[in-house]
Amino acid sequence: MTFTNFWAKVPQGPADPVLGVTEAFKRDPSDQKINVGVGAYRDEDGKPYVLDSVRKAEDILHQKKSDKEYLPITGLAQFLVLASELAYGKDSKPLQEGRIAVVQSISGTGALRIGFEFIRQFYPGPKNLYLPQPTWGAHASVVEASGLTVKRYRYFDAETIGLDFDGMKEDIEAAEEGSIFLLHACAQNPTGVDPTQEQWREISDIIKRKKHLAFFDMAYQGFASGDVDRDAYAVRYFVEQGHEIMLAQSFAKNLGLYGERAGTFSMVCASVDEKDRVLSQLKRVIRPLYSSPPLHPAQLVTVILSDPELYAEWLTEVKKMSDRINAMRERLYDLLVENQTPGEWGHIKKQIGMFSYTGLTPEQVDAMAKYAHIYMTRDGRISMAGLNEHNIKYFADAMSKAVKGELGLKSSM
Ligand code: LMR
Repeated sequence: MTFTNFWAKVPQGPADPVLGVTEAFKRDPSDQKINVGVGAYRDEDGKPYVLDSVRKAEDILHQKKSDKEYLPITGLAQFLVLASELAYGKDSKPLQEGRIAVVQSISGTGALRIGFEFIRQFYPGPKNLYLPQPTWGAHASVVEASGLTVKRYRYFDAETIGLDFDGMKEDIEAAEEGSIFLLHACAQNPTGVDPTQEQWREISDIIKRKKHLAFFDMAYQGFASGDVDRDAYAVRYFVEQGHEIMLAQSFAKNLGLYGERAGTFSMVCASVDEKDRVLSQLKRVIRPLYSSPPLHPAQLVTVILSDPELYAEWLTEVKKMSDRINAMRERLYDLLVENQTPGEWGHIKKQIGMFSYTGLTPEQVDAMAKYAHIYMTRDGRISMAGLNEHNIKYFADAMSKAVKGELGLKSSM
């Protein structure tokens, strides 16, 4: 043991499965390069997009010249009310009865971390957290970092490129009673495949019968259908059915506030008294992690959600983003067919939300990066928002060649 070089044995960590793609993209000097890795919206020119409603809210905040005092550990009170109304619906019974414990979080990931930590400390059932197979690249590491055990349930059927509903039901049924199931509220990441409303009702029944805990991750409210209420269907239905759900809510995508880190963690409790006790413990989870949440993102969201005009403008903008993504789905499909790309590509049009789960193999993904400077996660997921009229033809040509095994052959790109 030497005390002169403390960190000599620190091994190199692997790149992050999602954010590592952006790092690789940034290192590539090519001017043809395309990043369809990270799920962040881009405009028609491939540029990051700040919503007009957000710009206006920033102006309002600037005029207000508010102070920079610490927020309470649980966050900005008005933000918490408005964010919960958006997720649960204004007429939600537990919301009206004041029995939803809600705290501000460092966006969706922070919300998951708070929830998992609370589970680790207080959950009376088995601390097995079931993730869909596949799921967002960072889910498992957040679960593991929180000391819970990762389990998987079947979700995606590679043959039908759709939901493996029977497999999913079987796995929920077979899990030890009282297990925890993480459910993507809408626009499942990475597959873009969601259960139908009827399927959600069946899932709710089984979870209830098996006394499992439903933990919803809602990172795309508004992005799936362009309608925030419709996208909250599963969350609201489960609550109506009496599930004491947990919910991670993110404003990264639907308000385009990626780097602002606005979100909430909430959980439905049986009574006001129980909620108060839960909140007292949530504070004890948060305080040693980061003391209290950031002020600015909560203020921004509050301005937008509390001003009827800005709120309406925001809804129009979410719809616009979701429509542009859908237009890109159509274009990509048409181009792949035009290029006589082997395979059936209808799923690209059918999938929901920001991503398409293309079915490209890891080797094809690698070839796309190496020979065409196109970057995506190794599971073949592409962020449709990274495509636009200027780059979609180049992208589709490269993808067709990758599928045909022609990328990298001389004169291929
Ligand atoms: C994604 O899946 O691309 C996003 O949720 C960004 C992230 O943090 O991984």
